Amino acid sequence: MKKQLLQTAFLLVFGFMLSGAVHAQNQLLIPDTLSGTNFTLNLQNGQYQFYSGVNTTTMGANGNILGPTLIMKKGDFVDIKVKNQLGDTTTIHWHGMHVSAANDGGPHTTIAPGAVWNPKFTVMDKAATYWYHPHLHTHTNEQVSMGIAGLIIVRDNEEAALNLPRTYGVDDFPLVIQTKDFDDNKQIVVPSNSDDVAMVNATIDAYVDVPQQVVRFRLLNGSSQRVFNVGLSDNRTFYQIASDGGLLSEPLSLTRLQLAPGERAEILIDFSGLQGKAVELKSYASEFPNGIYGATNPGMNTSMVLNGYKPNPLNGSDFNLVSFRVGATGSQPVTTIPATLVNVSPIPESDATVTRDLTFSPQTRGMDQLNGKFLINDVSFDMNVINYTIQLNNVEIWTLENNSAIAHPFHIHDVQFYILDRDGNAPPASEQGRKDVVLVKPQETVRFITVFEDFADDTVPYMYHCHMLTHEDQGMMGQFNVVSRVTGVNDHFAENTRLSVFPNPVQGDFLTVKASSVGETILSYALYSLTGEKLLQQKTNLTGELKLNVSNIPEGLYFIKIQTTTGQDVRKIVIN
Ligand code: C2O
Ligand code: CU
Ligand code: CU
Repeated sequence: MKKQLLQTAFLLVFGFMLSGAVHAQNQLLIPDTLSGTNFTLNLQNGQYQFYSGVNTTTMGANGNILGPTLIMKKGDFVDIKVKNQLGDTTTIHWHGMHVSAANDGGPHTTIAPGAVWNPKFTVMDKAATYWYHPHLHTHTNEQVSMGIAGLIIVRDNEEAALNLPRTYGVDDFPLVIQTKDFDDNKQIVVPSNSDDVAMVNATIDAYVDVPQQVVRFRLLNGSSQRVFNVGLSDNRTFYQIASDGGLLSEPLSLTRLQLAPGERAEILIDFSGLQGKAVELKSYASEFPNGIYGATNPGMNTSMVLNGYKPNPLNGSDFNLVSFRVGATGSQPVTTIPATLVNVSPIPESDATVTRDLTFSPQTRGMDQLNGKFLINDVSFDMNVINYTIQLNNVEIWTLENNSAIAHPFHIHDVQFYILDRDGNAPPASEQGRKDVVLVKPQETVRFITVFEDFADDTVPYMYHCHMLTHEDQGMMGQFNVVSRVTGVNDHFAENTRLSVFPNPVQGDFLTVKASSVGETILSYALYSLTGEKLLQQKTNLTGELKLNVSNIPEGLYFIKIQTTTGQDVRKIVIN
């Protein structure tokens, strides 16, 4: 009996060595986790051995490469200290998370060398896999390619109620899929269109031991540009359970899953009965049509040239990402794929009150257009231009029209969206959940619906951009402010007589606001333009009467919002 076991063990090890010699030799790095409500990220320069014995200069968070996986609970108020020890300015963005613009870590929220940035926010997101990365304008690609990127796992009660694997590094694995370009000295080249080395969790040629049961993988495409077409080497079915921002309504059986830069997906693989065998996670890029970074031709027109793109063994061919070596069943294994997951409730199209059209185009047409720049509505990103001002609580439909020859993964901050259609057709099931990145193919039109809730800020904007980092850095980006809308004007205007606002129209220099109920205190007031732009805001603490000098305010129609100890009122006023 004992001898038999030893023999089996020998065969298993020997078998692994054989397949390892051919396929995968390096044990997959599993980033550490940080959990709780206080997180510290030290952004630092480092040295990391992608190739054993060779030091490559890198950047990382709390280490030489990548960053820890942050595990957060929905509803928790988290406090994050981001210390910048890079010797260079940076920012850190919580990709996919719904946080205020000031906490979002976009290009305006810079962290100077040596400084500490301390965002604090309530986790409002649904259980899913989010990620963080630098977002300094024109430097995003550099800092991400050098290594700074980490996952954020959000947990919530809805997810906890499901029978899903969720023990990190045991039956729930992070898989950060990237490609990089190395020079002859094995130093990272950035920017580059010659990314010919695939890696998972910064491990080239990786393997990971997995138990013989249902295992969950959290996939992130953290590449600068490359799209992956994920599948398993034996064409085994796997099950997608989550898209970018949440669980799907039910597990979706797939043999291929396309992941564009920035996109995440959670999948389940059932390894039962496979003990002693290895299954490869691959990208089947040979199946890509032209016009996708990753296909044989990155442009729709085969004579279009992208500098440096060819020759590259990854383009248009099938290649390994990570090898799963199946071992014994773990304790308390999940052995079944759940029948259903969560209730996904897309926003009804009829709720939308605003539509916006965004057209992607190359700056110069012609055979070298793939080298950029790419424009959105004919303009390039300008830090000083706000492209859209969006009223808080707006439900909007955005139409993305790609008039260029290459597919662009479009990403928007602040919100998760629901894809309405691709060229008028319902999106595939894998895209019917919450999304924050969508790959728009050449000549394709994609529509999504979303709502801009909870956070308004007149000064700090949110970004939307192509998540191909070369395109983003070249200016394929725009920004929007969400501003607080003055709501309920008509109702209050007619009904509420508690406050007197007079004279209206204002004749002289002063507008008077009088509270009528005894003991009511006027706490603050704010003045808005007709489009909802906040022009001024003032805290007061007046019992009875507020006299507002309006002599410096240009003639016109305004809204005044008054907050008292009894409530809030909004009035339309005319200044003459
Ligand atoms: Cu993942 Cu604006 O970024
Ligand atoms: Cu983002
Ligand atoms: Cu792009």
